[in-house]
Parts: sequence; C-alpha cells; structure tokens
Amino acid sequence: MKDAAPQTIHLKDYTPFGYRIDSVELTFKLHPTATRVISKIAFAPNPAASDTRFFLHGEELELISAAIDGAPVIPRKVEGGIEADVPDAPFVWEAEVEISPETNTALEGLYMSNGMYSTQCEAEGFRKITFYPDRPDVMAVFTVRIEGDQPVLLSNGNPVERGDGVAVWHDPWPKPSYLFALVAGELINHPDSFTTKSGKEVELNIWVRPGDEDKCAFGMEALKKSMKWDEDTYGREYDLDIFNIVAVDDFNMGAMENKGLNIFNSSCVLASQATSTDANFERIEGIIAHEYFHNWTGNRITCRDWFQLCLKEGLTVYRDQMFSGDMRSHAVKRIEEVMILRARQFREDNGPLAHPVRPESFVEINNFYTATVYEKGAEIIGMLRRLIGDEAYRKGCDLYFDRHDGEAVTIEDWLASFEEVTGRDLAQFKQWYSQAGTPRLKMSETWEDGALTLNFTQTTPPTPGQKEKNPQVIPIAVGLIGPNGDEVVPTTVLEMTEAEQSFTFEGLGARPVASVLRDFSAPVILEREIDDATRAFLLAHDTDPFQTWEMGRMLAKDTLIAMIVRDAAPAPAYLDAIRAVVTDETQDPAFRALVFGLPSQDDLAQTLFDAGITPDPQKIYDARESLRHTVARHLSDALPTLFRPTEPGTFTPDAEGSGRRSLSLAALSYLALLDGGAAATSLFAQADNMTEQAGALQALLSAGLGTSELQAFEAQWKDDRLVMDKWFTMQVASAAPDKAAEVAEALSHHPAFTNKNPNRFRAVFGALSANHAGFHHASGAAYKLLADQLISLDSLNPQITARMSGAFETWKRYDADRQGMIRTELERILATPNLSRDTTEMVSRILS
Ligand code: PHE
Ligand code: ZN
Repeated sequence: MKDAAPQTIHLKDYTPFGYRIDSVELTFKLHPTATRVISKIAFAPNPAASDTRFFLHGEELELISAAIDGAPVIPRKVEGGIEADVPDAPFVWEAEVEISPETNTALEGLYMSNGMYSTQCEAEGFRKITFYPDRPDVMAVFTVRIEGDQPVLLSNGNPVERGDGVAVWHDPWPKPSYLFALVAGELINHPDSFTTKSGKEVELNIWVRPGDEDKCAFGMEALKKSMKWDEDTYGREYDLDIFNIVAVDDFNMGAMENKGLNIFNSSCVLASQATSTDANFERIEGIIAHEYFHNWTGNRITCRDWFQLCLKEGLTVYRDQMFSGDMRSHAVKRIEEVMILRARQFREDNGPLAHPVRPESFVEINNFYTATVYEKGAEIIGMLRRLIGDEAYRKGCDLYFDRHDGEAVTIEDWLASFEEVTGRDLAQFKQWYSQAGTPRLKMSETWEDGALTLNFTQTTPPTPGQKEKNPQVIPIAVGLIGPNGDEVVPTTVLEMTEAEQSFTFEGLGARPVASVLRDFSAPVILEREIDDATRAFLLAHDTDPFQTWEMGRMLAKDTLIAMIVRDAAPAPAYLDAIRAVVTDETQDPAFRALVFGLPSQDDLAQTLFDAGITPDPQKIYDARESLRHTVARHLSDALPTLFRPTEPGTFTPDAEGSGRRSLSLAALSYLALLDGGAAATSLFAQADNMTEQAGALQALLSAGLGTSELQAFEAQWKDDRLVMDKWFTMQVASAAPDKAAEVAEALSHHPAFTNKNPNRFRAVFGALSANHAGFHHASGAAYKLLADQLISLDSLNPQITARMSGAFETWKRYDADRQGMIRTELERILATPNLSRDTTEMVSRILS
C-alpha cells in the first residue's frame, strides 16, 4: 500500500498507543521472493491511553491470514496499515504475511544483499516486515524463529535453539520494533569474548562474507575497548550472553544498533592495513563504539517518538566522540569534530533545510537523520557538561539510567535528571533543542586600569518557520595570555544568557590577549575584531590546541578571501605562521597536518556569501590552487624532510602512526606540485598500506598526474569493492572543474558501477557534489547529471535519493544563472511521476 498524499506529523500531536504488548513471537520462513512472516502478539489495553483505536502499521505486505484470540478476522485496510475491532481485555493477535526481500531495493525492512538476508528497521522499516504498532514507545519482548537453509541464522538477544535449518532467539529486554534485526546467510565469524565488570562472559562475533575474515580483527578490538570504556566511564555493563556484528555490503547508512545484533555497512567495519586508510580505521573505531554505546543510550532507554531522535543520537555521538578522544588525541579529535560540524551542520543551519535539533514536524523521518540532530545534538551534551561540571554530569547520567531504564522517554526527561542533581533550571538551556540556526557571537574588548572586559552580543538569524529568536545559554570558555606568552588566566567558562553581556577580568598587570571559545565550547560563529599579529601571537602561545588551529585557519581564510576578492598575493603572515607550525618538531604531527590543510572551497563560498559577496566557484578554485602552489614553493626546503614514508613492515593503525602519515602525506601533496610527482610515484609503488598508496595516488591526481597509477590501482583492486569505491571517488574528487561532470558520467557507465549499492553511488555522485568547482561549473552539466541520476534512483532507493538531493541545499548562495539552472533541475525532479515521499519533502524544502 502506498500512501497517496504525504502527511505532516507534528510533535504536539503525540498520543500514546492504546495497547501495550506483553510478548511477540515471530516466525520467518525465508524465501527470496516469498518470505512468510507469522506473528503472534499478546496485546492488552493500555490504561494510560485514551485512544483505543487498534491500528497496526503495514506497508508492502500481502496479508495471508489474521486472527484474534484464534478466531479469523479480516482487518480493514486504512492509510498506512490496518484496523480491527478488538476486545476490551487482553487478546492475542496472529497474522501471516508474505514479503519479497529480493525485490526490496530500498534496503528498508527485510532485503537481500549478495545472497544474504538482512534487515533495516529504523526508523519505520518494521512495518514492511509485519503488521505492528511500529512506533518506538511500544516496547516488547521478542522471540524469533527463523527457518531457512542458510548456515547462519541470527536475530536479537540470546540463542535458545540452533538446529538444522532453524534457529530460535529470545531477547529478554523489552525493545521497540525499530531495534529488531534478522540476518541469514553464508557467513563466517571472527569470534572473541569479553568478561564484564561483574564477571559475566559475553560471546562476541563479527560475521562477514567468506573472504573478509582477515578484516575483522581491528573492529573486534574496537568493540572490546568500547565495552570496557562504557563500564569505566559511564558504569554501563553489557546485558546479554552474546553480541553479534554483521557486515553488509548494501546498507543505506553507516551502521545500526539493533539489540545484540548490530548491522554494519561493510565500509564501517571491515579493516585491513592493505585496504583501509588511517581515516577508515579511525572511523570504524568510532562507529563500532557508537553502535555499542547505543545499547544503553537508545536501546535500554529509547525515544518516546521520532521527534526525540537526538535523545539517543546526540548523546551517543557525544559518547563516541569522548571515547575516540580517549583512544587517540582529544586535541586532534576536537578539531576534526569542529571541521565536520562547520562543514555539514553549519551549512545545513544556514540554508533552507535548517531545523531544530528536536524538529517539531516531519513528513518522512528518514530525512531527519541529519548533521543537526547528530552533531549539533552532541554539541548540546558537551555544553551541558561544561556548564554543570564533570561530576554533576555523571550523576545526572546515572540518575537518568536508573530512572528510565526500560522506558521510551523525551528530552524533558533527560534534562529533568540534570535539573534534579544540580538544582539548576534548564528551561533556557532547553532552547538549544527547539531553536534552529547558528548563533552569531560578536565580541569586543575594553581595557582599563588593569581590567579587561569582554563584551558579547548574540543574534541568531531567522530560519525556515522561525523568524524570531531568543538568546541562548552560551558557555564561552576563555583564557588570557600575557604579553610574554604565559597564560595569566587559565580556562574559565563564562555563561552568557542575555542578548548582550560583558565579563570583566580584574587585577591584570599588562594587557593580555584573550583566547575565546576555547575547545570550541559552543556551536556558534564567533565574530571578533582581531588583527593578524594577534592571531599569530595566539597561534604561537595559546595553550588551547583548538584555538591555535583556529588562528591558523583564520589566517588561511583571510588570505584566500583577499586572493579571491582583490587578486591579492598570499599574505606573508600566513606563510610564515604555517611554516613555523608545520616544521615545529615538538608538536604532534597530526596537529601539524591539520594546520597544513587549507579551508575547503565550500567553506570559502559560505564565508563570501556571509560577507555579502556572491561566490564564484571557479575563482575560489583558482585561488586555492594558486595558494597551494605558493605554499609548496615557500616550504620547498622543508617538504622533503616532512615527507617521511612509513618503513615497510612497521604500519600500525593507531593515532601515532596515523598522525605521522597525515603530516607526511600533506607534505607529499605539496611536493607533487614541485617534483613532477617523483616522490608520490615511488611511494605509490612501494607503500605496504592503503593510507600511503591512496595518499600517493591522490597527490598525483591533485597535481594533474597519475593516469597510469590509476590504471594500476584498478588492476590491483578490481575485486575489492571497498577499495574500488575509493578508486571511483578519487577520480571525481580530483577532476578539474570543467571535467568533473564528464568524469562522473563516464564512471557511471563503468561495468563496476551500480546505483543499487549506496556506497558505490555515493562514491561517484557524493564525490561529484563535494567537488565544489566541478559541481557548480558554469555549464550546469553537473547539476543536470546529478538530477538525472536522482530521478532514476528515486524509485529504487528513496532514502539515498532524498539524502543526496541535499547537494543543492546551498543554491541560494550563487549567482542568478546558477540559481536558475538549479531551480530547473529541482523542479524537474519534483515533477517526476510517483516521486517518493522522501525526495518530495527534501526537494520541496530546498526550493521553498
Ligand atoms: N541509528 C543509526 C545510528 O546512528 C543510524 C541509522 C538510522 C541506520 C537509520 C539506519 C537507518 O547509529
Ligand atoms: Zn546512532
């Protein structure tokens, strides 16, 4: 059943379901095109609900039979599901339905990927498996019987029976349907075990396709570290006898936290030195942790409704960020987080798709798995902790876990735990969840009689549906550095609550330099009058690594903006500052590599737009290329020393090794502009790890070289789908502005291209939209190509189509010609017959 007119769902309309569920028994008789799902569900009236309508969600299900208390019934078909008349007392609902996993290309519900069965139920996919109240506030205990001839049959919870062609699983923890999972296939496990702090032994498995078993060890270590970390840091212990992870090739997102049976996009779990880059290793470690941490923040305590998505996602992202910081370097990790936040969340907050961390309405919830919900959601947790302190934060978390275990709750419930342990009123703070847009924080300074006053004003620009904005609670972490470079006031958190507020530091001898928004203490845009000399001073003396990096970045941005707008020459202040940092052997190589990087073209486009200048993508590209050449020449003497390939046989995927390689490869990409690619060519031939092999290839491609290496890479890796994704991406990402669409189009005809695999589709078309000058080339070729691709993908996979339409979200930044071309493409997408609800909602919002 397909819905006719998409409906908007509102947070304010929430009502509890009229029935609770005492138990769910499911039987699956697997068949590629005719799987039978038999359900037996014990319902009872919910005394807390006033609406007694018995409505079960159901989509694309063929009903074979249904019964209530053993008597056959014919339910009424209604929009999005079925209705039936039920007794005003406990009753048993039974139904048998038929579904077709093989033709399920949307990858939601039960589907097939390379011959294996897999499920994806979050957010509303369970309704494609059987009739059910598919909403997170209905929690139930599941028993699942799987009948199929696959050697491995998995579901949630603990195994209770394993026989020939059958397996039975029982999950003792009540859970919402979105956490249901089933996997069946010819899989091999990488086994291990973990003993919890109370001495319980847990069986751990990573299940993969034959041939991938050598890519599981790193993920397994990450899992064990995560389990230990959650015990040590949050006092949270694992609660089943077994924890399974499965790698699936066709998956819309990164991974999914199904209870006891996490399902991963294979790109987010499979790792090996030869096939994965350092960035892959870091990401895999973080995602394994993220999904594992959901066991408490999401599963044991879940969301009352999908508007509360950030309750589990923001918190779990925050937890995985802290974990990664503990495993690697907090300084480097924080800078990377800020880069991602600005690139994705600030971009979202600045355009037509801006929405609050807790949205108030949606048409398709899949469209709200956004940088705002996830990354800004995590920033809110970080701010809360900064404001109340570490101890109160931990106490509040403990109370939240105690109080709400087994429940489906709201942001109000979460905040109430912290109000209780601190005695604070968090009403104003709560606005971070409801008010969209990135606050602009303006600062000026006054110096008088040994007192430094910092004057702040905050404003948040209007966003769709929210014209008026209130002042937010902004924790501003500040430190003061004396003229000799010593810190005279260590980090202090100023708590701004008004639209305008001043803070004074008294009793200072000489005028210090203020280091403001240390560690990026709030997700705001700081606007501060500061000259190059002060920036260079902070770059050299600040004790806060985020601030030092930030000063370098501001110098780089100003230089580039001046080159773009005034054809200025690269600023010597920038060139000297960056030389000082990258050649400073006392500093962490990973940090130096970050300082080496130039701001992205997209970031520069937004900065120009904010300054009232229409960005010209080609000019931005040219300026950035020109600066790359200048930096290369300016540092030509230092580059050969900075380029230090890993000794063959010594690769380790840890922070230390990865930091050294990122500095070395950053140097290599500059070196390639000077030496005709000699160093990169030899590294490409010798590297014993993917980080350096791909890094060398990338350096060659970005210097306009590397044609034969590209061929060699393909010949070597044609059978490795994850490495081939890199091969596709690199070519599109490094294509010159006038060639990008052509390159992407040609690759879409490559025999290994398919739009049925989200990783492959993103490898080409995600890369195209990320190639700023290429995507926005004046010809409009890339706009048209992407629109063509989205139109043909929509009927196969609406979720990915909708997500990728976000490539157009910045369209209002550009000139009238480009806006006109984009509008034409967006309108063409919207006019597609039977366009999905997902894409319709996204494209309409972008256009509005
Ligand atoms: N809940 C998953 C996560 O954050 C993301 C996800 C959403 C995966 C929807 C699949 C579908 O880890
Ligand atoms: Zn998550």
